[in-house]
Formats: sequence, C-alpha cells, structure tokens
Amino acid sequence: MEHLKLKPFPKGFLWGASSSAYQCEGAFDEDGKGLSVQDVAPVIPNTTDFKVASDHYHRFKEDIALMAEMGFTEFRFSIAWPRIIPDGDGDINPKGVAHYHEVIDECLKHNIQPVITLYHFDLPNALQEKYGGWASRQCIDDFVRYCEVCFKEYGNKVKYFLTINEQNMMTMFNMGGYKTDKERYQANHHMLIAQAKATIRCHEMCDAWIAPAPNITCVYPLTSSPLDNLAAMDYDQLRNRLYLDTIVFGEYPEAFKVYLEQRNAMPDFEEGDAEALKNAHPDFIAFNYYGGSTVKYISNEDGLKIKENMKNLDKANMAEFMTGMMTEPGMAVGVSNPLQEQTSYGMGIDPVGLRITLRQLWERYHLPLLITENGCGVPDTLESDGTIHDDYRIDYLRKHIKACQEAITDGVDLMGYSPWSAFDLVSTHQGITKRYGMIYVNRDEFDLKDLARIKKDSFYWYKKCIESNGADLD
Ligand code: BG6
Repeated sequence: MEHLKLKPFPKGFLWGASSSAYQCEGAFDEDGKGLSVQDVAPVIPNTTDFKVASDHYHRFKEDIALMAEMGFTEFRFSIAWPRIIPDGDGDINPKGVAHYHEVIDECLKHNIQPVITLYHFDLPNALQEKYGGWASRQCIDDFVRYCEVCFKEYGNKVKYFLTINEQNMMTMFNMGGYKTDKERYQANHHMLIAQAKATIRCHEMCDAWIAPAPNITCVYPLTSSPLDNLAAMDYDQLRNRLYLDTIVFGEYPEAFKVYLEQRNAMPDFEEGDAEALKNAHPDFIAFNYYGGSTVKYISNEDGLKIKENMKNLDKANMAEFMTGMMTEPGMAVGVSNPLQEQTSYGMGIDPVGLRITLRQLWERYHLPLLITENGCGVPDTLESDGTIHDDYRIDYLRKHIKACQEAITDGVDLMGYSPWSAFDLVSTHQGITKRYGMIYVNRDEFDLKDLARIKKDSFYWYKKCIESNGADLD
C-alpha cells in the first residue's frame, strides 16, 4: 500500500553499520590468536587472503572515531572465538579478552552501542581438526563455554548480543562440506541447540538482549501458478523459518520436518534438545537482508537431475552456482527475477523486498527487529583528488532506509539499521575489490599501500541522514 504520510523514525533508533572479525581485523596470528577455519581455507584465485584485511585490529580507534563522526549510535562487530580461546576448547587468551574490552570501551566512550556477534564464520580451526567442527555435538558445549566467557567479561557493558551469523547460509551452501543432507542438517541442528543454550545462558548471566542473526529474505513465486506459490511457501520454510521458528517457537516448521524425514535428512534429537529449543527466548530478531529470492516449483526427479549436473559446474560462475545451490528436489528451484534490479556482482537491489520481509517477520514473530546487514558491494574509484563518488551506494542506502520508514509506518517495531559496512573490508568470496564501506580503505587486492581511511561521498550522506534521524534522505 502507498502511505500518504510516513511516520518518523522513532527516537533512539539505532543508526550504525556492521562488520565481522575475520573480514576486517587482520592480525590473524597476533597476540595469541589461534587460527580459524577462514585462516586455513584455500584462497580464492585473484583475491586477497584475510591476513591483514582492513587492519582494523590495529586501527580500531581511528575507525570508531570516524563512525562517531558520522553520528553512529551502534556498531555491530564480531568477536573472534579463536582470539578468546585459541584452540576453541582450552585456555582463555587474556590478550584476546583485553582487546575486545578496549574495542567495547572505545565504542562506549563515543556513545556507540556495541552489538556483538559471537560467531561469524570463523570457527577455531583446532575444533574442525579435532572433531569435524559442527558435525560433532561436542561443538555445542564448546560454543556455550566460549559464549559464557563473553557474557562474563562483557555482559555488564554490552546491551545486545547476536549468537550465530547466517547459520542458514552456512547450512544451505554447505560451508561445512558435508557429504550427505543428513550430516548437513545434523550439524545445523547442533548449531540450533548451541544457539538455544547460549540464549538461555545469556539471560541467566547478564541483562543483555540476545538474538539470532540469519540472512532473511522474502520469497517470490516466479509465476502466479498455484504450484509456484506452494514452492515459495516451502522455500520460505527452508530458507527462513527453519532458523526463526525453532528459536522463537521452539519447534521445527512441521511441513519441513516431513520433507527432511522423507529424505532421511531429519537430524537426531538427543535428550534435552527439545527442551533447550523450547526454553530459549530471543529478545529480538536480528537479520541480514540483501534482496528477495525467486523460485519456481520443481519435481523431485527434475531437482535431482539439477543436483547431479551441479557436480560439473564451475564454481567461479557464481550466478549459476547459486541457482544450483538454491535447488531443492521436490520443492523449489531458485531462478533469477527479471523484475529485480541487480548490482554488478549480481546481487539483488530490492528495497520493496526489505519492507515485505520486515512486515512478514513482525507479523509472524512480534519481536523487535534489527537489520544487521544490507549493502551495496561494488568497486569504487579513488579519484586523483582523493575523493570517492559512490552515488550508487547512496542511492541504494536511500531506497532501503525509505523502505524501513514505510515498514515502520506499517506498524513494524524496527530497532535500527546497521548496513554492511562502515569501512571497506574483505568480501567473503570476492576480495576487497568488492567494496561495501562508507569509508574507503586504501589498499588493493595484493598491494597493501598505506591502508589509509578516506571518506567517501556516502560518508557525508549517511552523517546527514543520521543527524536528521532519517528525515533527510536527499
Ligand atoms: C553476509 C555475510 O552474507 O554478506 C558477510 O554475513 C558478507 O560476512 C556479506 O561479507 C556480503 O557478502 P560478500 O560475499 O559480498 O562478502
């Protein structure tokens, strides 16, 4: 619907941006840090590794000061588990603990609320080697113990914790490299239980709020056929609801459970699992949003053929690979949406989808919502006079912030907007050339240059937006 008048952003709305430890910190082996699975992963050809990244570990004070200059009231970042417990389950590293105290204190000094992700793709590699990481139930206890260290150390300073970043993407894209769906969903189940137990412990140990942080999207049927509509509904369960219903309602979505059972992929529950899911009550929902997903129905037989063909696909062909990954035999196949705009990297630009997603989440779960990622990753040009004219990013942010305001007018309880990212950092798969920041980090893929911070046009635009509490989007 078109609103004739928009409600203003609420007072105290959180304005900021997001990052993750391994993508920005660098210092990959300093001050006692253990290696994470990201440190040992094969480097993608023609892209940098994560050893130096944006050198945020050494420059966090400068970065936080720039965020304060933009007027940030929150900064979402992750704690690197292998900095706190280098081998994942052994001794605590005092230097790692001290580092995040300093980062948190620096934020608070500038009246910026830290929003802390406890785990953002960087599992301690020692746990992967020791017992296969999330494939093992032992990982649940080790994760909860690590979280307890964070709650004890930081729980009296931090108001917002996030458990696991994009668990749904890790499972859907089989980041653990599991051989069967049963193994994949078993590992996913361990993460769900770990998240539930960490949520319970957070409430027992401190006053902070805690939330999951999946990547959520609205799902469009490619056509108005009833079967495509059914496919969209089912895909929503696979992509979104498996991760949110379990933590909010304490149960797997019913129809999806049957789908897993019939394919021998339903994870084994052990004593206490169902109870943990039932007793963990998140205080809000944090979610990352990068665009809508479009699907059409596919029979089991045709879906299995696509999966078989995927074995011959070139992984560098991201779009084709993603479509293959978005195929669920007997349910849905992901397709590109001819009506959705895209960035040069093939990521959707869909602000209306953000409004729909906000509405769907609010109407289903009735918990406050926090957008913890959203952003435009494209190459930027540093002009000879030291300026960066990223009007495409401003346009992207403007449209998505407007969508937030429309959703607020719809009645959604939105706590804040934390796009990806404040300063440039290394993309998960496409190096530092794919930039998301409002602050340029002066380095190339392989030439570290001086790593200087340079304000892009979007820096000044976002500052103005925050100053006006979202009223000035020009
Ligand atoms: C999210 C992740 O999926 O998207 C981030 O939580 C990631 O870690 C961001 O960087 C953007 O994706 P990419 O692949 O361009 O880095």
